[in-house]
Amino acid sequence: MNPYLASLPANYLFPEIASRIGNRQVLNLGIGDTTRPLPACIAERMAECALGLGTERGYQGYGSPFGNDELRAAIASVIYNDALVPDEIFISDGAKGDLARLMHLFAPRSKLAIQNPAYPAYVDAATIAGHQLSNSYDECDGILLCSPNNPTGVALTHDEFAQALSIGCPVINDAAYAAYISSDAPRTIFAVDGARDLAIEVGSFSKLAGFTGVRLGWTAIARENPLYAGWKRILATLFNGASIISQAGGLAALEPEGWAEVQKIIAIYKENARILAGRETDAPYLWLEFPGRSSWDVFDEFLELGIAVTPGVGFGSAGEGFIRLSAFGPRADVEQAALQLRKVCQAPSR
Ligand code: MLT
Repeated sequence: MNPYLASLPANYLFPEIASRIGNRQVLNLGIGDTTRPLPACIAERMAECALGLGTERGYQGYGSPFGNDELRAAIASVIYNDALVPDEIFISDGAKGDLARLMHLFAPRSKLAIQNPAYPAYVDAATIAGHQLSNSYDECDGILLCSPNNPTGVALTHDEFAQALSIGCPVINDAAYAAYISSDAPRTIFAVDGARDLAIEVGSFSKLAGFTGVRLGWTAIARENPLYAGWKRILATLFNGASIISQAGGLAALEPEGWAEVQKIIAIYKENARILAGRETDAPYLWLEFPGRSSWDVFDEFLELGIAVTPGVGFGSAGEGFIRLSAFGPRADVEQAALQLRKVCQAPSR
């Protein structure tokens, strides 16, 4: 067995939370999972694709491992405003699959700098691949960023991206929540000088278009990046392309009618985040400190109140004493959780 597996906690964070919730009926704000159905114009396009309608070719089997050309072009144009060309966009089955595949780009036992707290899949995927993790840019072989950060919701500034790029090693930025940025922080690392040579950006339709169960994302890497050819080689070997049905839905989401529908859904989740946080946020998460408390104890306290949250320590040692609440729940659940939250935060023991 891969010896690095043994160094991981027995359970991945989100299944662990699910098992602690068990059969309880709770307001589940413990996982960032979308709760609204797909807009009809997107779902209909997926159904047409499944039925072999709407294209000259009719039925299609395997697609390209790099993705449907029309979808690659739409992402280059709608998301990157043509700062990237279609050949620089590689369609995936969601951020998580690419995140694991990206670990193969690095030499064995590379030293990767990562934020603390961070989305745990990065930490676990890097560990399984045998890489070493550090929280400092000193002598690193690669940098893993997430902006806006999951779990803290903090979006990196232009200068912070520039600082990471100035180290001179590959910088992977997970931009899964970029559509939720309210401030003037950049929505992509490719807005920063030097990114074409060094950056790799992971994007996702999960939180952009409510595709958590559909599975669709992309990775952007410019041709100047020395890892460009290696990334194509990895995809051609380890991936047979994203579902053509998901890709049809993704394309519909980026066309004017679908894009307008998607913006309405994002606005609903953003309003949920505002209700929870009491202010505008850059991400659909509220990150809350309970000084001196264990995150799992606070998790248990909220579970007793009928609310599932995410314990901050699940995102790394710096998350101890914090919890995260997701804004993707139904509006009524979010409003009820916000009321409880205010009571807990005003209680004398807090
Ligand atoms: C989260 O809750 O942070 C994620 O969306 C869950 C996941 O992607 O695994």
